[in-house]
Amino acid sequence: MNSARNKIPYVNLGEQYRREKKDLLPLIDKIFSSGNYILGNEVLKLEENIKKFVGTKHCISLNSGTDALLLGLHCLGVSKGDEVITQPNSFIASASTIAHLGAKPVFVDVLDDQSIDFKKIEASITNKTKAIMPVHLTGRIGEFDEIKAIADKYKIPIIEDAAQSIGSLYRKKHAGSLDEIGCFSTHPLKNLNAMGDGGFLTTNSDEVDETCRLYRNHGLETRDNCKFWGTVSRMDEVQACILNFRLKNLNEFIQKRQENAKLYMKLLDKDFVYFPPIRNYAEDSFHTFVIQVDRRDDLKKYLLENGIETSIHYPTPIHLQSSSAYLGFKENDFPVTEKQSNRILTLPVNNYITDREIMYICEKVNKFFN
Ligand SMILES: Cc1ncc(COP(=O)(O)O)c(C=O)c1O
Repeated sequence: MNSARNKIPYVNLGEQYRREKKDLLPLIDKIFSSGNYILGNEVLKLEENIKKFVGTKHCISLNSGTDALLLGLHCLGVSKGDEVITQPNSFIASASTIAHLGAKPVFVDVLDDQSIDFKKIEASITNKTKAIMPVHLTGRIGEFDEIKAIADKYKIPIIEDAAQSIGSLYRKKHAGSLDEIGCFSTHPLKNLNAMGDGGFLTTNSDEVDETCRLYRNHGLETRDNCKFWGTVSRMDEVQACILNFRLKNLNEFIQKRQENAKLYMKLLDKDFVYFPPIRNYAEDSFHTFVIQVDRRDDLKKYLLENGIETSIHYPTPIHLQSSSAYLGFKENDFPVTEKQSNRILTLPVNNYITDREIMYICEKVNKFFN
């Protein structure tokens, strides 16, 4: 068994590289030697691969998940004075991108499984609502049929914050293919991860594809013709090459995380530990495995003393961040989110953790409560 000295890391990116190094380095060397670093073949190949994987007509590679959200919202026409509905328990980028366009993030509380509470969306819709942004946190898509029914009723497009959910399925459809726009991150901690920042946008809309493609490259139609003011948000060839390489094993990668999660679910004492149930119409990709418990901070400390690293996604809800002060929220505005922020704990579910280590973690968690 592990001792406190023998740490179980929350992530293990070094191990991922160690296993890939022999095959990956020659591919990267080839790119460096080619002298072609921006918008080359690897980027084109990645966009083709992602289109096939996610099942959309278009994919535009970008330099972060944050930019995917920002450009996606821009393509939907979100601008000053508009409102976009999202959830307050997400990573800050879900809201900051709305605010950067001069629009107002309108928060809706969440359900037990951390997905947006679809029953509360309708009451938040106004004539300024330009988009609905559900976040597939942890790699779990919420109750999308219900969300889409409301969006369709009011003819409001959905932009999926799919940053954490490459490979997640809802009624056999992939995250990022469920409505107007999907936004993905390939940050090193994501299931499909680059070795630096990266992201991409998926869509079936030719118009979104064209605008986003120009926008990421200064708005340039050709080298010398600028259609509108854009920005620079291009994924580079090296990151695209790493992602093409890793995409080959993505299904296997996700499967291992699902197996890890299933073992946790089997062994954790359900009298003390809550985790969202598996649904037969959806497949969660377990970007993270989040439990909800009483005495979360004490448990976190106890696990660390026993050599187990954990994390919290996220300890301060967005509406209570200093950056949100101008929106005038106060404590208890979103009770479920706030309660969860004190109860959620992310256990290691990374691809290099062993069954024995998961058994050890479960033993420690159960011992803490018993
Ligand atoms: C839910 C969510 N949205 C957006 C982002 C932003 O992605 P990136 O870090 O690639 O900008 C992240 C990344 O952590 C995320 O988890």
